[in-house]
Amino acid sequence: MSVPSIKLNNGVNIPAIGLGTWQSKPEEVVNAVAYALKEAGYRHIDCAWGYNNEKDVGEGIRQSGVPRSEIFITSKVWGTYHSRVEEALDETLANLGTDYLDLYLIHWPVALNPKGNHPAFPTLPNGLRDVVHDWKLSDTWKQMEALVKKGKVKTIGISNFSVKKMEEILPSAEIIPAVNQLELHPYNPQHELLSYLRSKGIVPEAYSPLGSTNSPLIKDEVVNKIAQKHGIQPSDVLLGWLVSHDIVALPKSVTPSRIASNLTGTVTALGKLDKEDITELDGLAASGKQQRLIMPPWPVDLGFDNWTAPFPQPTS
Ligand SMILES: NC(=O)c1ccc[n+]([C@@H]2O[C@H](COP(=O)([O-])OP(=O)(O)OC[C@H]3O[C@@H](n4cnc5c(N)ncnc54)[C@H](OP(=O)(O)O)[C@@H]3O)[C@@H](O)[C@H]2O)c1
Repeated sequence: MSVPSIKLNNGVNIPAIGLGTWQSKPEEVVNAVAYALKEAGYRHIDCAWGYNNEKDVGEGIRQSGVPRSEIFITSKVWGTYHSRVEEALDETLANLGTDYLDLYLIHWPVALNPKGNHPAFPTLPNGLRDVVHDWKLSDTWKQMEALVKKGKVKTIGISNFSVKKMEEILPSAEIIPAVNQLELHPYNPQHELLSYLRSKGIVPEAYSPLGSTNSPLIKDEVVNKIAQKHGIQPSDVLLGWLVSHDIVALPKSVTPSRIASNLTGTVTALGKLDKEDITELDGLAASGKQQRLIMPPWPVDLGFDNWTAPFPQPTS
């Protein structure tokens, strides 16, 4: 089976399906990663310092026996490290047991107090997340660029950046981000943001492509109707729809049968979904089903459409 890949703006090819690892428990993710690489044919793993399981992901990579050079590994710098990006990368490299990353992303366009009351989620006395409000994202991006020059990462990108946030880094960027990793699925297709990314040569990556935990998408009647029409699973429809739009999809699973079918099912769906199916899925959100599923309580406006949760405000 040949897994499709997408060419990035620096000429590097990224496998269009990667295994997600958020919320995968340490003891589960070792087996999930080893199985994905050794048995299911994955060559792309999506990690993050903030997932608190990179050591176990690294163990899974080692247990798979697949050579490092054949695997595309992504990680992300967490908010408390925006002023010390190389330090974050060094921790990630040590945790994963590798000396370079294929792709390194800014996880969220929000810098958090590096000297706050928690290493990952510092809060203020009023309970809000302790954000460094005057931090310049362009200064985080400069440090990302330096890591490419040093050869510690091959490609750099961003995650959860709206147009408003991208415009804080693009005017002074020497390297244009190769990807923007975003919540993308038929309930949150972000059509305008994707047009902007295309105009800049930035490849979109879809997180929560299946609708995350307790997904409403897997049960959606249109998704199920299309799945039945072609004799495939709802998950295949969701992943095939993304890849048909040249979007990298990052399904997470710790269940071997699902890990395997998320890869084979995408390839099958790509051969079966027709123009009518794609158009119907493209219009699902506009038909009244728009829903963003991942909205952490950042006390700042990220500049996204359809961010329906209120930005938390100080209580005193
Ligand atoms: N950049 C960011 O801020 C950000 C945010 C969120 C996520 N991400 C990345 O994107 C990845 C995916 O997002 P996600 O973890 O939120 O959600 P997801 O991949 O959309 O969904 C994962 C859920 O779907 C289940 N599942 C997996 N395959 C299935 C299938 N074939 N049929 C039915 N259910 C299935 C999984 O269960 P089991 O595991 O029990 O099989 C799990 O409960 C993350 O793991 C992470 O790598 C990035």
